[in-house]
Amino acid sequence: MKVVGSLHILYSLAILVSLHSLVAGNSSVVAVTHENLQGIIDSNELVLLSFYTDWCRFSQILQPIFEEAAAKVIQKFPENGRVILGKVNCDTEDILADQFDILKYPTIKIVRNGLIGNQEYRGQRSVEALFQFVEKELSDPIKEFHNIDDLKNVDVGYGIVIGYFISKDHAEYDNYRRVASLLRNDCRFLVGFGDLTKDLRPPGKNALIFRGDPSIPNHKNQYSEYLGNMTSFKELTFWIDKTCVPLVREVTFDNAEELSEEGLPFVLLFYNKDDLSPIQEFKNAIQSQMENETRVIFLTAEGEVFKHPLFHLGKSPSDLPVIAIDSFMHMYLFPRFQDIYDPGALKKFIDDLFSGALHYNYHVAQQAKEDLESIIDPTEDLPVVHESKFKDLKPSKHRYTLVNRTRDEL
Ligand SMILES: *[C@@H]1O[C@H](CO)[C@@H](O)[C@H](O)[C@H]1NC(C)=O
Ligand SMILES: *[C@@H]1O[C@H](CO)[C@@H](O)[C@H](O)[C@H]1NC(C)=O
Ligand SMILES: *[C@@H]1O[C@H](CO)[C@@H](O)[C@H](O)[C@H]1NC(C)=O
Ligand SMILES: *[C@@H]1O[C@H](CO)[C@@H](O)[C@H](O)[C@H]1NC(C)=O
Repeated sequence: MKVVGSLHILYSLAILVSLHSLVAGNSSVVAVTHENLQGIIDSNELVLLSFYTDWCRFSQILQPIFEEAAAKVIQKFPENGRVILGKVNCDTEDILADQFDILKYPTIKIVRNGLIGNQEYRGQRSVEALFQFVEKELSDPIKEFHNIDDLKNVDVGYGIVIGYFISKDHAEYDNYRRVASLLRNDCRFLVGFGDLTKDLRPPGKNALIFRGDPSIPNHKNQYSEYLGNMTSFKELTFWIDKTCVPLVREVTFDNAEELSEEGLPFVLLFYNKDDLSPIQEFKNAIQSQMENETRVIFLTAEGEVFKHPLFHLGKSPSDLPVIAIDSFMHMYLFPRFQDIYDPGALKKFIDDLFSGALHYNYHVAQQAKEDLESIIDPTEDLPVVHESKFKDLKPSKHRYTLVNRTRDEL
């Protein structure tokens, strides 16, 4: 999850809401409205909200499952303030549906520590899967190490945040935990306490450091220390989001739906799984030329897994690596992979998408091909445009009732 820019922090006095006062009849699911929402999310560590309508058949199917899952969750976590499963009727609560940006029914949104982000549950709609999800979300997101040698051998992956704290019983540690809980799916978190970490932090102080992906040699965030306010939730969230969430991510069938809902075009590297070096070259190029680019999502896609869009681009696995943009309307091919070394070439490709030039050039080239008297040489760098294939990976009408809102065409 990229939270920067989409983070709404709702400031308000926490109103303690007792679960029992909210439960209607014998239901374990709380009916949430614009009137009780704030109190519920402020007084619970985790809230799952199912946005539904009575007339949506997928909502109808989910309803008894969600109810049973809620009963199971309450049985396992009966303490006030841990977790609530709630439901929002979008026909009567259109303000809430807007606030949570609901584009399909049912949507199960996740709210942690009163913070409304854009995370949602996309797993299987079964009692067991929902229950296991809640259990996992309530587990401690930070792993404690008890031996300094554990740190030497730690698998850094995309990156890892390590805390050196005086003790567990500290407001700064509480803050770290809250942030780690929010970003638990985007980064990994470690902590060590007391004498064990004494030499790794300034005397009498706590420290947080980030260790970056060792496979990116020029990564400027290879190692960085958090110098901001240790008790500021917002500041620490922004720092971890910026340093830890990688600029280039791998797309799979499991995360494509979620990525597509970030609402940004994909810039994709299709690679061959037997030759991973283009991934590194792509990451280096993006990192050095486009670290501040926020209009698109940079992704790597395994050519075999995504061979359908690849074929659609007129390419086969023997042509890999291949770079393309999928705008969810069209796909555009980046002419030559090796041009990523030309500073500015990839940036121009992306700029051309947003200026409409990619699309325009295509029509000009088409015209030139048809018009025999044209002076434009049609063999010269034809911009290639195809119908989007990644739009098929957006939320499916076989699983949701989609709300009809149209986005600007790119
Ligand atoms: C209320 O629900 C629980 C579990 O869902 C069930 O065991 C109990 O019999 C129900 N009570 C009534 C009065 O329906
Ligand atoms: C640090 O952040 C906390 C919480 O936002 C705030 O109360 C405190 O005043 C901040 N400290 C400094 C030195 O800015
Ligand atoms: C990104 O922005 C930072 C801060 O504005 C700047 O120092 C850096 O040079 C920029 N990077 C690129 C590749 O333009
Ligand atoms: C969806 O919105 C478009 C544009 O506003 C409209 O033309 C179309 O009829 C709508 N479709 C449905 C099913 O409401």
